[in-house]
Amino acid sequence: MTEELKTKLTQIEKTYTEKIHQTASLKNLQDLQVAALGRKGELTELLKNLKDLPLEDKKTFGPLSNALKTKLTTAFEQKQTELETAAVNEELNKTNLDLTLPAYTFDKGARHPLSIAQKRMTTILSRLGFVWSEGPLIEDNYHNFDALNIPKHHPARDVQDTFFIKNAKEDKFVLRTHTSGVQIRAMEKQKPPIRLIAPGRVYRKDDIDATHSPVFNQIEGLYIDKNVSLADLKRDLSVFMQGLFGQKAAVRFRPSFFPFTEPSVEVDVKCVFCEGKDAGCPVCKGTGWKEMLGAGIVHPNVLKNCGIDPQIYSGYAFGMGVERLAMFTLDIKDIRAFYENDVRILEQF
Ligand code: PHE
Repeated sequence: MTEELKTKLTQIEKTYTEKIHQTASLKNLQDLQVAALGRKGELTELLKNLKDLPLEDKKTFGPLSNALKTKLTTAFEQKQTELETAAVNEELNKTNLDLTLPAYTFDKGARHPLSIAQKRMTTILSRLGFVWSEGPLIEDNYHNFDALNIPKHHPARDVQDTFFIKNAKEDKFVLRTHTSGVQIRAMEKQKPPIRLIAPGRVYRKDDIDATHSPVFNQIEGLYIDKNVSLADLKRDLSVFMQGLFGQKAAVRFRPSFFPFTEPSVEVDVKCVFCEGKDAGCPVCKGTGWKEMLGAGIVHPNVLKNCGIDPQIYSGYAFGMGVERLAMFTLDIKDIRAFYENDVRILEQF
């Protein structure tokens, strides 16, 4: 019995080692593995019979059989790797792939400087409690002009300044010339308190030069509640500019005019480059200040047009050019740098 077993083990070892060696296909190898180590495989069967042997024999044959099992398993694994590698190599040899060539580099891409600037601005404003709001880019005359107290004869409504959209029946629509129309749309829908920002594209019939573009971006701000005054406007804009330019940033108001605000102001920011100390500063031209945005207290007519009682509520509004602020922060001298998409320039931000 024991002799027989010994012969059997040796025979299994010899047969399978040889066969593994000779095998040239994965399928064949798999079949072999099943025949030897499968559930009904030769070695498996042998191991099953071990339990019927006397204790002494178990002690000898147990370890011997297990060692053979490990040995064969390893041999199968090695052969499998060998065959798989050979298959891949054969596949590669059929093509002209040169795996020693360096890989193509590819650029990861990044946000556009304008998007970065807008994000910075809206993030600060969101922290101040302003809620993001949107309106259509193709706006009707009513929301872009009439409701904002802009009279029919106002020069902004001239074909020279505004892109009108021809409609079969009437010239009712324009490409919005500012984001202020979103004020109206919000107040029509919502009762005060209202605190919103409306970022987005606006269009004007301007010729392109270093500071003008027929398409640019604004961020509108609107705050309507009881007892809102210019003092609230100045505080909020100061905090905003400090968020953008640092603690030293300061704002100043100059009287101005917009049909939809009364009083109206032009808001200047202290020059962050020379802080007003350089008479030859190219950024502020030695004035120490840079004009940044228009703002004011919402005109009572505008509130009335939206069904809000100006006796009870008041509010401020502001509108700023994203490009202008971005040019100032990023020290970009030409607005065209934003739109020409020259990667060599964009990469710098
Ligand atoms: N809409 C004005 C513009 O485009 C800016 C502005 C907005 C002024 C809100 C006052 C209040 O120039």
